[in-house]
Amino acid sequence: MEQQFISKLSTNAFSLEKGSVNAKSPSNIALIKYWGKKKNQIPTNSSISYTLTNSYTETELKFSPKTSEEFDVEVYLEGELKESFTPKIITFFERITAYIPFLKHYKFEVHTHNSFPHSSGIASSASGMSAMALCLVQIENILGANLTEDELLQKASFLARLGSGSACRSVYKGLVEWGENNFIEGSSDLYGTKFPDNEIHEVFKTFHDTILLIHEGQKSVSSTVGHNLMNGHPYAEQRFIEANDNLKTLIPILKNGDVKAFGELVEHEALTLHAMMMMSNPAFILMKPNTVAALEKLWEFRRETGKQLYFTLDAGANVHLLYPAIDAEAIEVFIENELKKFCQNGNYIEDKVTF
Ligand code: DP6
Repeated sequence: MEQQFISKLSTNAFSLEKGSVNAKSPSNIALIKYWGKKKNQIPTNSSISYTLTNSYTETELKFSPKTSEEFDVEVYLEGELKESFTPKIITFFERITAYIPFLKHYKFEVHTHNSFPHSSGIASSASGMSAMALCLVQIENILGANLTEDELLQKASFLARLGSGSACRSVYKGLVEWGENNFIEGSSDLYGTKFPDNEIHEVFKTFHDTILLIHEGQKSVSSTVGHNLMNGHPYAEQRFIEANDNLKTLIPILKNGDVKAFGELVEHEALTLHAMMMMSNPAFILMKPNTVAALEKLWEFRRETGKQLYFTLDAGANVHLLYPAIDAEAIEVFIENELKKFCQNGNYIEDKVTF
């Protein structure tokens, strides 16, 4: 229950002088997609994602005492004051104020840096909100909350969810599940849960994720708008059932190392996400011609070589190429020779999962 995350700090603990904390958090890529939510950032289905390595946000949160009764926060991205970012953080603070009681007692300066360019179209909300949440729980502990390492991470995941749903999965490494179901022990709608490493075949711990930057720049549909499109969507209920079924199907596949079954399921999830958006009102087509061209080329390559190269998509035009280390050499030659040309400015990001 939410109750467990209410801070045990007493208000007189906030007399502390100014200070600063840091956190670094990677982005994640969902295999089973979160698409649709209820009030208070509760997902309409379970999801699972790989936490990445090279795509991350690093945040320093500086705090100093103040007396006014308002939230006071400044956000600096790559050293530059970004006034346009303040409302998002204020909304986040409003949502979490019941759980982080010192937010109005300090003035905050957020100094944040992404390893990937802002223009790349890689969403920084998951890594950014996760890093912010990790900073806040650290301050809570400095003020005397005494959270254990496990409690600290769980609370960070709980808070991150209130900032951006998928952010709750970025708090942990490996594969992270979010959403309550009756087949994963400890699963919750309120926070992400690390999927046990010993339930995952070694091959899935070696996966690369090369991100083809097909279209750089802002996405044409924000995730908030996108999730809302699932309200009243004629296929929504069936989609939520199928997503949970797909996650259930994935579990034995993760254990037995069947890369083909894994890849086919993950591609189906990605295409379903896009199909849902095409069937919504208003409709969105998030793929670009080069997205489709890259996917067709990928399928042809797989048919002809039998190499284990699969894709997933987020809610945009970029393509995430997923493949095990064992096939990486041949696949990376193929990317450079055949897929790079579909990327805007020839740009792609080489990332991999982190365990
Ligand atoms: C397509 O977590 O960005 O990437 O909760 O509104 O911040 P908000 O949405 P967000 O949605 C991510 C959607 C997705 C699928 C996924 O990551 O599971």
